[in-house]
Amino acid sequence: MKAVTRNQYGPPDVLNIEDIKQPSPKSDELLIHVLATTVNRTDCAILRAKPFLMRAFTGMLKPKSKVPGTDFAGIIEEVGAEVSDFKVGDRIWGLNDLGLSSQAEYMVIKANQAISIIPNNTSFKEAVACAEGGHYAFNFLNNLNFNKDTKVLVNGATGAIGVNLVQLLSEKGVQVTAVGNSKNIELIKSLGAKKTIDYLLEDFTIDNEKYHYIFDAVGKSSFYKCRHLLLPKGIYKSSELGPYSQNLYLPIWTKLFNSQKVVFPIPKNPKRTIEYLTNLLRKNILKAVIDREYSMENIKDAYDFVESGEKTGSVIIRYK
Ligand SMILES: NC(=O)c1ccc[n+]([C@@H]2O[C@H](COP(=O)([O-])OP(=O)(O)OC[C@H]3O[C@@H](n4cnc5c(N)ncnc54)[C@H](OP(=O)(O)O)[C@@H]3O)[C@@H](O)[C@H]2O)c1
Repeated sequence: MKAVTRNQYGPPDVLNIEDIKQPSPKSDELLIHVLATTVNRTDCAILRAKPFLMRAFTGMLKPKSKVPGTDFAGIIEEVGAEVSDFKVGDRIWGLNDLGLSSQAEYMVIKANQAISIIPNNTSFKEAVACAEGGHYAFNFLNNLNFNKDTKVLVNGATGAIGVNLVQLLSEKGVQVTAVGNSKNIELIKSLGAKKTIDYLLEDFTIDNEKYHYIFDAVGKSSFYKCRHLLLPKGIYKSSELGPYSQNLYLPIWTKLFNSQKVVFPIPKNPKRTIEYLTNLLRKNILKAVIDREYSMENIKDAYDFVESGEKTGSVIIRYK
């Protein structure tokens, strides 16, 4: 089968396209014919092993897995003897943000992992476009309460995390203020934002509004620049650790000494996310935002573009 491969950590130049042996499913696994995947910011982090901590999960000296990729949408081609929940021909999607070897024509995955049947109203590309960004967006919501009076500011509303986060919050009836670029203001309004701020024209930190939560989905702000926008018991979450890794220790500091808190949205339980997102896709509540598509042969260009930090929503790799 044709696959994207790499033997070392590094820039997109370390990637090759090779013919390698097709994997065979074990008794508790499925063989998937992959029809779409994404190149996302998690793939880029794993590709370069940055932050260094990543190596604890993906391989200390070189990648444990020769084939990259963290998400997929495709068709079940073979089912292990012990698997009863899925059958050959099922349309399926899933995610493992530590690596799935999905940037290949075929992959195997255990049937109890973060996978689900793609609803009939959703294409392969639409499903996979919601996987990685949707997972991190869903994890921003952990352990928080929302109602129609909750005010949330989302910075970076045009990224893969941001477009999903605005939709997940809007679905809960929350009043969302979304910060994005000029060309995407109409898009973020269409995802449910009640108020928009164009970051190319205005600094969102100069705002009179006060928020229950500030979610920086692109990790470009800091708690100190935003705290005056938070209500007294407000919470700040960012998808990045910050230039001094401060979003790792500020949660402890603010828990002890502040009424306003910093919480780091540690991603967990992708199975729960995929089930939740599948339900929203089925009800037409979640809309996939796709920036552009590449063929597998042009995967290096896809990684270069995603690393530029300029994509809107997701970048798709198509296999047909
Ligand atoms: N904590 C985790 O486990 C985890 C997991 C995945 C990703 N991440 C991190 O989360 C961040 C977001 O990921 P993503 O996939 O959503 O990113 P992304 O899709 O690459 O985000 C790109 C978008 O962010 C916008 N943007 C850039 N600078 C901005 C600014 N100063 N203010 C507002 N918007 C800005 C860009 O608009 P323009 O084109 O106008 O610049 C673009 O639309 C990344 O830094 C990524 O490394 C963290």
